[in-house]
Amino acid sequence: MERQNQDYFDRAAAGWNRFIGWIDARVPLSSFVRSQATEYYAPKNFNFWYYFGVLSLVVLVIQIVTGIFLTMNYKPSAEDAFASVEYIMRDVEWGWLIRYMHSTGASAFFVVVYLHMFRGLMYGSYKAPRELLWIFGMLVYVALMAEAFMGYLLPWGQMSYWGAQVIISLFGAIPKIGEPLALWIRGDFAISDITLNRFFALHVIAMPLILILLVVFHLVALRHNGSNNPDGIEIKKNLGPDGHPVDGIPFHPYYTVKDLVGVILFAIVFAVVVFFVPEMGGYFLEHANFEPANPLVTPEHIAPVWYFTPFYAILRAVPDKFLGVLAMGAAILVLFVLPWLDRHPVKSMRYRSSLYKLALIVFAATFIVLGYLGLKPPTRFFSELSLRLSELYFLFFLVSWAYSKTRSRGFHFGLFAGVLVLLAILDAVRWDPINGSLMLQMYLIPAVYLAIFLLLPVFTRLNESKPVPERVTF
Ligand code: HEM
Repeated sequence: MERQNQDYFDRAAAGWNRFIGWIDARVPLSSFVRSQATEYYAPKNFNFWYYFGVLSLVVLVIQIVTGIFLTMNYKPSAEDAFASVEYIMRDVEWGWLIRYMHSTGASAFFVVVYLHMFRGLMYGSYKAPRELLWIFGMLVYVALMAEAFMGYLLPWGQMSYWGAQVIISLFGAIPKIGEPLALWIRGDFAISDITLNRFFALHVIAMPLILILLVVFHLVALRHNGSNNPDGIEIKKNLGPDGHPVDGIPFHPYYTVKDLVGVILFAIVFAVVVFFVPEMGGYFLEHANFEPANPLVTPEHIAPVWYFTPFYAILRAVPDKFLGVLAMGAAILVLFVLPWLDRHPVKSMRYRSSLYKLALIVFAATFIVLGYLGLKPPTRFFSELSLRLSELYFLFFLVSWAYSKTRSRGFHFGLFAGVLVLLAILDAVRWDPINGSLMLQMYLIPAVYLAIFLLLPVFTRLNESKPVPERVTF
């Protein structure tokens, strides 16, 4: 019996090898898998933060698969769209699950991508030789925002309609070409069936194709240079006698198994949200979107979905509409050029100075608070706070640039005074006597920020980085 079993397994293995051999003779499958998995050496010190790349891939797949099934029952017309979504939720078998997976997936995408980007900031993963990897990541991010924005119009609820109305009207603020551009995007004088149709086409086919293509470029750039790691050490510079990095381990089986743990943990959290809190208190599915779009009734308070709100807060904070649009665009563009702003030789924040670490923490906190402010109605206090935090958002990049190399005392004092004067001039331009005292008090926020990050390096040793070890640590 045992002998028979052995024969059976031998024959099966030989058959499998012949099959793989047949494929290899036609496309280089085995060598590709080897080069990307068993013979691809990744740093051995990846931590929790390295889960978010693979999780972004997982969410991309969830969105595409659930999207295909939603499209089977969704009707892209102003007449039927809202009712077809209700039909999916109530009558289509498992339709509620597919729809909630897709709506939760949209928010989950931004959660994992924001954490993924923050990891890049912490470990300096955008620095040479990974600038293009970062740029492709940023292009993915912009494409993702466009994809989410267009998808949000499709349920044709009140927030779909009015959110799109607000965002498209922003293009109208651009001098000269603004209005024709907004008209071109809408395809009509107001958001209408025509807009819905084109957004549907772009959401289900054009943008997913672009996203997938960009993700492929992102991964090619990643594999070409190899991953960075929490120590920011280039493992390829230290090869063992076998020609492999001494600080590397084969991606398969080590990271395939480790990533699987992350994917399972993510799946549990994702399922809890889908089954128990799919609306997430109105953050993932806004309450106003449970009413059909009505061009004659504006909702009391229009706010985009949470993942856009940090940028929305920056937009609203600037009193002039066009300048607000510029500031919002600049807030995204500045991330593209980060590899050329922060040129400090030490990559990982583990070995960067205490002041740089603090700047990064303040940056993350600023982004989160801006996100909160973008959700709230713009009271005087909130508007002023948004403006000051928008200033801090940009100042982080200025500080990163200033810290890129050792600068003279004069440079620090000059930059400190120069920026304070510039901010004061901007305040003078937008001076409003009713808000005067609030404006002056809040001026302290950027002033204290600049004093900490530009003057402390002159008087203390808080901006000294630590020596980077030769080998990775755990
Ligand atoms: C659909 C979206 C995305 C997918 C599927 C994706 C996928 C991945 C994967 C699988 C990795 C390798 C695993 C890891 O290091 O976590 C990675 C690395 C990386 N990604 Fe992304 N990514 C996406 C978006 C972004 C965005 C928006 C950025 C930033 C702008 C970005 C920047 C990076 C960087 C810098 C690395 C290298 C990190 C390192 O080696 O330390 N990615 N990405």
